[in-house]
Amino acid sequence: GMPSLPPPIRLDLSDLDARLMQLVEQLAPSAEQRARQQQAWAAVQGLLQALWPQAGVHLFGSAANELDIGGSNDLDVCLELEGVDETKEARGEIISQLGEQLEQAGMLNVFAIPRARMPVVKFEHPETGYKVDITVNNRLAVVNTKLLRDYAAIDPRLRSLVLLVKHWAKRRRCNDAYVGTLSSYAYVLMCISHLQARSPPVLPVLQEMEPTHRRTIGNWCCDFCDDTSALAGFGRGNGESVAALLACFFYYWAHQHDFRRGVVTVRQSSAMTKAMKGWTTRVGLERHLFCIEDPFELSHDLGRTVHAEGCDKLRHEFRRAWDVLRHAGSSSQALQELLAE
Ligand code: CTP
Ligand code: MG
Repeated sequence: GMPSLPPPIRLDLSDLDARLMQLVEQLAPSAEQRARQQQAWAAVQGLLQALWPQAGVHLFGSAANELDIGGSNDLDVCLELEGVDETKEARGEIISQLGEQLEQAGMLNVFAIPRARMPVVKFEHPETGYKVDITVNNRLAVVNTKLLRDYAAIDPRLRSLVLLVKHWAKRRRCNDAYVGTLSSYAYVLMCISHLQARSPPVLPVLQEMEPTHRRTIGNWCCDFCDDTSALAGFGRGNGESVAALLACFFYYWAHQHDFRRGVVTVRQSSAMTKAMKGWTTRVGLERHLFCIEDPFELSHDLGRTVHAEGCDKLRHEFRRAWDVLRHAGSSSQALQELLAE
């Protein structure tokens, strides 16, 4: 575990906490936004089922684990097809075919990327304006979405922390894996590992417990304990507020994390290192500067897209965030500076 509190901070944490909770309320989708999202999902689901009657259609990502910010018009959808090779070539072919079908069906800005690591077709659904990403047999994403949702069900502070960190990352432009920083998914994993490492912990390590949800995808074991009702109240021993947890989060990434040797993981409570993973040398475009292990696909470093400038940018932003919280005269000033665009 790590120290329960960062070095003293002048701010009145209970005042900051009240403001942060207010912000969380504003960031969370309203009932109306949720209804619109449901409508969009139903429409996209109907369209895909008409095109591929034999396929399963699943929603994943933040719209499915309720870690989404209101007004974000994105849907992550997985088409599940029997008898398709689990190779990226086989997936790519289906993605290309799907791209043509979606165009014919009147979808807007259809853009297929069949040669990506996980082939994807992107489009905009005209009636609802939602942007949709479709992948094929992306079963790992469906199960990791469930893992995130289950963690969020155990302690509500996770969702608050995630919404604040996502909002901060978007404002500070460090939320784009395509330009060398981190995906939202990577930030969620950082939040979970942070709450697991508090002392006493806010979250358990579900993959170290007796599994109640068992699945194997390819060669990856995706077992974990999903008995969230038995685990409700797990974090009661830790009384830290969201404000304290957010401050500690930034302090940790600014000054405590060992970027040279460490790997962020949510699947075990003991420390993990780059040496243990063999993530010590650059292989092609994959750098291992900032390492975050996927909970199931253990060879996947979520930080592999972070290049040297991206890593410097992230570390600069973590230090900046901590400095803002540490030096601010009032919590309104702290929030304003923290989230300045
Ligand atoms: N995902 C993944 N591996 C990655 C990136 C994403 O498996 N390298 C999957 C995860 O299931 C994740 C989903 O894709 O939940 C969506 O990723 P992302 O858009 O980064 O996360 P969201 O939580 O949906 O973020 P946002 O609210 O910003 O859309
Ligand atoms: Mg998403």
